[in-house]
Amino acid sequence: MVELKDLDKLKFPNNFFWGASISSHQVEGGVFNNWTEWEKKNSNRLALESKNRSWLRNWSEIKDFASDPNNYISGSGADHYNRYLEDFTLAKNLNLNAIRFSFEWSRIQPNESTFDKEAINHYKRYVFKLKEFGFEPFATIWHWSLPIWFEGKGGFENPENLRYFEKYVEILANEFSQDIKFWIVHNEPRIYTSESFLNGRWPPQKKSVFTYLKVLMNLQKAHFKAYDILKLINPNLQIGIAENIASYTSKGNIFDQLARIIFNWYELRIIRMYKSKLDFIGLNYYFHRHLNKLRLSKLGEDINTSDLGWELYPQGIKSPLLKLKSMGKPIIITENGLADSKDKHRSWFLKLTIKSIAETIRDGVDVRGYLHWSLIDNFEWDSGFWPRFGLIEIDFKNKSRKIRKSGFLYSEIIQLFSQQQNDLSQKS
Ligand code: BGC
Repeated sequence: MVELKDLDKLKFPNNFFWGASISSHQVEGGVFNNWTEWEKKNSNRLALESKNRSWLRNWSEIKDFASDPNNYISGSGADHYNRYLEDFTLAKNLNLNAIRFSFEWSRIQPNESTFDKEAINHYKRYVFKLKEFGFEPFATIWHWSLPIWFEGKGGFENPENLRYFEKYVEILANEFSQDIKFWIVHNEPRIYTSESFLNGRWPPQKKSVFTYLKVLMNLQKAHFKAYDILKLINPNLQIGIAENIASYTSKGNIFDQLARIIFNWYELRIIRMYKSKLDFIGLNYYFHRHLNKLRLSKLGEDINTSDLGWELYPQGIKSPLLKLKSMGKPIIITENGLADSKDKHRSWFLKLTIKSIAETIRDGVDVRGYLHWSLIDNFEWDSGFWPRFGLIEIDFKNKSRKIRKSGFLYSEIIQLFSQQQNDLSQKS
């Protein structure tokens, strides 16, 4: 067990970003996009299928929520669109100095020929307030939800449609390039393409290797264009990607070792595709996978799991960080967290994650920030509202907010390292 006092011996670079992340569809509420339409059509099915999760340790606690179709409708959600000032105030209490958010494309361009001035002004006020509160904004241009008209034209499957994405990026670049330095063009292109075009779980629910590869290539092209558009307007902008990379261990048999090497290679391969147009790499770390006889198995019987059944292996973050070192780019951890409605595990998980990050920094990895997922409880895509990722708990009925115990712990950790930096700068 890591104690707070043990962290005191660790070091973080000056100006390290301590923050949290959110995305528009998952917290804003009141959106109208391809997901909201899909949710309406699929909520009953998802509620029925929830019994496939009865293997979860905490199934008895979640089954009433998970089997209710309303759980799968994002609706007014956390209403962050209207309550962002309240959330920023709480984030300030947590001592954060950075917040990652995403623009909701369907608000900014509700139809092909309209860029909505009011929506753009909303985000102007939003970014102004972020900065006034002292948060460094990390803006994601696209975090998975699409305008309905864009999906209707075939979305990112059709290379002809990239021109629409470019126009959207151009508008954002013109409106925000003076106020936002850090940009993330796409969130997790590999996860999006796998879930939407290979496994058929998310809209538009296709299952085709060919389409999967096509969309992956189109997203890369879209990123390259976006990079050029943003840099042309302001060459000082820092542009990155956020990608999910797991840590792998294997039991020892040669085939497991080989599989581990292939998985590692493939996940890094995606980042390499983007490498020539990246100023930083955003790492989203959630998963540890243990290979045993070519199957995914538990690292040990006593390993803790999140409410979603994901193994909690925070020290595993070292593995993707060390792998990314070879890219020679600064790294920001753009997401990391766990679904933990009772807040049983988040505190030790945070301490061990932060300790592991400090150790990789000591070993020469250039990590510049840690943004926890999530600032507030969010809508968890096809799992709906029951998985609780927030440092801040939301009562979705009356929208009230409450900082979780682990949230306070995170604020103490940040305070500890800020104090350390102040002491150092006073000495020098
Ligand atoms: C996604 C988030 C999601 C989180 C937890 C990440 O892969 O970017 O949108 O909420 O995982 O599942």
